[in-house]
Amino acid sequence: MADEIGIHEMATSMVWVSTSSLSVDLQKHEWLLAERDGTDDKGRLKVIFNGNALPGVDGTRAKKISEKNTLFVDSSQLDDDQDDVALMNSFSAAPLVHVTRRRFRDGKIHTRVGDIIIVINPYTYVENRAYPNGIDYPIVGGALDKSLRSRFSRDQQPHVYSIAEAALTELFGPANAKSGTRDQSCMVSGESGAGKTEACKRIMKYLAAVVDIERHSADGGATPRTARHSRSIDDLSMEDKILKCNPFLEAFGNAKTTRNDNSSRFGKFVKIQYSGIGAIIGSRIEQYLLEKARLAHQGPNERCFHIFYFMLAGMGASEKKSLMLKDVSEYPMLNFGRCTTIDTIDEPQEWAEVQESLNVAGIDASNRKDMWKMLAGILQLSEINWEDKHSTTGDAEATVTNKDISQCATHNLGLASLPTLQGDVSTVCV
Ligand SMILES: Nc1ncnc2c1ncn2[C@@H]1O[C@H](COP(=O)(O)OP(=O)(O)OP(=O)(O)O)[C@@H](O)[C@H]1O
Ligand SMILES: [Mg+2]
Repeated sequence: MADEIGIHEMATSMVWVSTSSLSVDLQKHEWLLAERDGTDDKGRLKVIFNGNALPGVDGTRAKKISEKNTLFVDSSQLDDDQDDVALMNSFSAAPLVHVTRRRFRDGKIHTRVGDIIIVINPYTYVENRAYPNGIDYPIVGGALDKSLRSRFSRDQQPHVYSIAEAALTELFGPANAKSGTRDQSCMVSGESGAGKTEACKRIMKYLAAVVDIERHSADGGATPRTARHSRSIDDLSMEDKILKCNPFLEAFGNAKTTRNDNSSRFGKFVKIQYSGIGAIIGSRIEQYLLEKARLAHQGPNERCFHIFYFMLAGMGASEKKSLMLKDVSEYPMLNFGRCTTIDTIDEPQEWAEVQESLNVAGIDASNRKDMWKMLAGILQLSEINWEDKHSTTGDAEATVTNKDISQCATHNLGLASLPTLQGDVSTVCV
């Protein structure tokens, strides 16, 4: 009995209505809030979309909807201050979409679902009123101070930093003082272009910034953040080094796709190791599942891996000459998608950042030169023309027809000569 009263109190005169039940041209299956207006003689629910702008529907006239296309609304789902969807009395896709959309329109791109944070990519700078001083996106270095950490605790407005803060709290919190630390993982998932890479970078930046704040307070403020720019690479902290690896990892593993100009074409697992007192002492980055097929072909409006375009746009003329490199337009493997330049990417600038990033990672000039030789060799391999050759053994064979190009490739790749392809070779992939 008590339960029945509870449910009755929670119910509202509102109902979720599936847009798939409406004969209007809406692109997606969505749930919209509507007001109940009784039932008709066939038992269908009459609903009014008052206040809900709906293309092709007169919001003030009742629509008749079969009950199976509706969902129950309880009052907790209508609480405008709710930033944790998991705290609702009942929960389904309908209120989740409703709340995240309402928050997004309010400039709040983050919504909490228990320990999970949902982020909607705004594709632009968003001034979040809950977090003034531009710390929402992008991070402004100067905004980080000691008070920052408490602002991202569990009871505050959700933010991608809250994930990093929760991991740190679990790692070093009092609960672990006796039992020892427990490893923590932050997992970021979503469709292409959702903002995973940016979110990961922010989580890592937060982890590094917190260590920096703590160290800065410990040395009595003797090492202001602004002074760090003048320090040499050897003086860079482990945190800075971890962050500065991103440009070269992204240059080799990211590419333009139709969904994202900087799409990660590989998976990455970053392990950060802490000392018992909370200093970052090491890091290990594992990469897996690189989309190697992108070297051989890309669809319209897509590109090969960034590094080839950065190298051809940013490398000096004499170095290019020594590697026998030509203009980007001359390599078919870089031109399938017909977009060798992109508005959002400044290739020469990115090339400079890759150099610095490799430097910080400890890749010296000689190793770097070998890397560029290998990339040049791959480009030249892609230009090689193969021709069927009549074989005495009866096997299929192919030989190179443009020997000048193959010589460039073999030189850069450090090979004596390209082998004759033998056997059932119908497609050659580099
Ligand atoms: N929080 C954010 N605020 C504003 N813009 C953002 C935010 N996150 C991402 N973006 C924009 O969206 C673009 C795509 O984001 P990102 O590269 O992180 O997607 P992704 O999920 O890693 O995609 P993919 O799976 O293709 O690698 C970014 O280049 C950036 O312009
Ligand atoms: Mg990505």
